[in-house]
Amino acid sequence: MKAIQISQFGSNDVLTYTELVKPQLNPGEVLVKNRAAGVNPIDWKTCSGGGAAPFIGDLPFIPGWEFAGTIEAVADDVEEFKQGDEVFGFIRFPERAGCFAEYIAAPADQISLRPDGLSAEAAAGLGLAGLTAWQALFDKGNLQASQQVVILAGAGGVGHLAVQLAKWMGARVVATASTENHEFLKELGADLVVDYKNESILDHVNNVDLVIDGVGGEVGIDALNCVKPGGTLVTLPSVTKDEVIAAGKAMKVKVEPIRAEPNCDQLDRLAGLYADRKLVLQIADTIPLEDIGKAFDASRTGKVKGKLILTL
Ligand SMILES: NC(=O)c1ccc[n+]([C@@H]2O[C@H](COP(=O)([O-])OP(=O)(O)OC[C@H]3O[C@@H](n4cnc5c(N)ncnc54)[C@H](OP(=O)(O)O)[C@@H]3O)[C@@H](O)[C@H]2O)c1
Repeated sequence: MKAIQISQFGSNDVLTYTELVKPQLNPGEVLVKNRAAGVNPIDWKTCSGGGAAPFIGDLPFIPGWEFAGTIEAVADDVEEFKQGDEVFGFIRFPERAGCFAEYIAAPADQISLRPDGLSAEAAAGLGLAGLTAWQALFDKGNLQASQQVVILAGAGGVGHLAVQLAKWMGARVVATASTENHEFLKELGADLVVDYKNESILDHVNNVDLVIDGVGGEVGIDALNCVKPGGTLVTLPSVTKDEVIAAGKAMKVKVEPIRAEPNCDQLDRLAGLYADRKLVLQIADTIPLEDIGKAFDASRTGKVKGKLILTL
């Protein structure tokens, strides 16, 4: 099968488009013929030796954590899926083959059926980003209807889904984005969009219940000032989480770091919202797997609107 593999950490020059043997199935797994895979900042961070690199075991490594494809075979003990099922998901099995490959051996308890109306490309971008948004808003942030939430980096992969999920929950949603993305976020349901390059959110909101911090570092620390006593800031970038937690402690604001986890019940909820047209996934670009370097370059700019999708 064709796959992207790295044998050392580095920039795009370590990404090899190569021919590998199909993965063997372990108990509890399904063999998926992959159709599309979502690209996330964690992918290029990990391939350059940061991100999840400390947890992936020995190289070589196939990157990619989210996918959509068709089941070709199931392990003997798998009853919930059969050959021909269309599935998608965010899977975590770092020491085996990843999602930037033609075939994936996916844990059956981490994936969901892809409903009609949810394209393979959109489904491929929904797993990791959708579950991160869901878990940040509802598991870590405990967002309730009629509360106020600020979403930093509202136009990104996680942010644009978080805006819609928060609105669906009935919250007042304030997002930050460059001016060219303001109309996009208002169409997705944001009540107010702040141009973070020229304005501070502190000029617009205070006493908010929850901040979803998709930027981290000084930006996340500054946003602590708009959280009400007893409120929460969920910070997504793991590289700056310790400094944001420390600042939160000093300001007596609860800061929750997050490590998104596979969860097929929540995936089903996301797919259901998509099927009911309550959630859309913005595809910034679709790029053939072998051109992964282009996708990594685009992601590194920090300007992606929605999700980048690799196609196979
Ligand atoms: N801990 C976890 O489990 C987890 C899971 C997923 C993601 N993450 C992390 O969360 C972060 C966001 O992920 P993502 O996939 O949403 O990233 P992304 O899609 O690459 O985000 C791109 C967006 O960031 C916005 N942006 C850049 N700088 C900004 C700033 N200073 N203020 C406001 N917006 C800014 C850009 O908005 P404009 O174009 O409008 O300027 C762009 O739309 C990344 O660091 C990622 O690694 C962590």
